[in-house]
Amino acid sequence: SIVPVILCGGAGTRLWPVSRKSYPKQFSKLINDKSLFQSAASICSGPEFAAPMVVTGDPFRFLVVEQLATMETLPTRILVEPESRNTAASVLAAALSLLESDPDCLMLVMPSDHVIAETDRFQNAVIAAAPTAMDGRLVTFGIRPTRPETGYGYLELAEGAKADAETPQTLARFVEKPNLAAAGKMVDSGRFLWNAGIFLFKPSALVEAFQEHAPETLAGVREAVQTAASDLSFTRLGSEPWARLENTSIDYAIMEKAKNLAVMPYHASWSDLGSWESVYNEVGKDASGNALSEHATAIDCKDTLLRSEVPGLELVGIGLEEMIAIAMPDAVLVARKSDSQRVKEVVERLQERG
Ligand code: GDD
Ligand code: MG
Repeated sequence: SIVPVILCGGAGTRLWPVSRKSYPKQFSKLINDKSLFQSAASICSGPEFAAPMVVTGDPFRFLVVEQLATMETLPTRILVEPESRNTAASVLAAALSLLESDPDCLMLVMPSDHVIAETDRFQNAVIAAAPTAMDGRLVTFGIRPTRPETGYGYLELAEGAKADAETPQTLARFVEKPNLAAAGKMVDSGRFLWNAGIFLFKPSALVEAFQEHAPETLAGVREAVQTAASDLSFTRLGSEPWARLENTSIDYAIMEKAKNLAVMPYHASWSDLGSWESVYNEVGKDASGNALSEHATAIDCKDTLLRSEVPGLELVGIGLEEMIAIAMPDAVLVARKSDSQRVKEVVERLQERG
């Protein structure tokens, strides 16, 4: 069976003030009536997929239960991290738990900060990638790059591999978050795809990769899984070994080093909802290119995002161009759309003030 493992623990500071420490972006309904987390759960539900495993942080465990309950998905297990140690530890904890309960499964690692619109195409790609994963390879999903984005991983196709193939291709190299110059060269070469952040592999294949490339993390996470405590539908990972783990992503810890990588090209729509600009790009717009929520009015505006998250609070813009304005009960953000990436500075500034 294919077990979706949904990662649900990031901070999402560039989507402040909707995304908060206690209510990060994956739980917010940013583009439709489902949260990003609920969308992630729903695109990998169906006859080919087992009930999902969710890996989340302690403060979010009840939000996970509540959001899954509204969509009639019963999770097999919710792994609760005592604190955030980034994705290497999260994915490995899921692999070690599955190795005990379902050793022959494939795990489909799903981030919860994406929009994947075409469920059928996505599920078909996963199914087409399954035999390669059964062979013990670590399968990534590759998106055709459209700009020299530095926030993504890049996948270099091996000699003879085809970027538009409908079966998994061999990878020569995985480069996580390059600088702008390197990203530009990779995009221009036509030999690279973006890493979608979605992975398919056998739990045992991942554990072997950790054994080879990050044995200390393996020892620590194994201890955290062995000392885990069950509590309702939650499995709380042991906090003492967890606290000692290195903070690193699966991309740096494993994917950049592993030799047995493959990529399944995925050329349907995919988007990482990292900033207000990307939210603007994904939602419906009026004839002047304005994206307006309920209770938002644009007079003589162009290409502007106006969003009132407060029932009864009217948000009105006059003569704005390429702007964003987001109103919450306790905070309002107003910025140029081109400064979307800088919204994380707000959170840093507010933290300094305490
Ligand atoms: N449970 C848990 N615990 N989940 C986490 C943690 C954690 O400590 N840290 C991050 N996550 C979740 C996030 O919520 C997100 O859904 C997913 O793991 C990926 O983490 P990000 O922090 O968003 O990674 P990224 O966007 O910088 O980079 C990854 O995704 C890109 C595509 O969007 C990489 O895989 C890149 O190579 C890739 O291109
Ligand atoms: Mg991300």
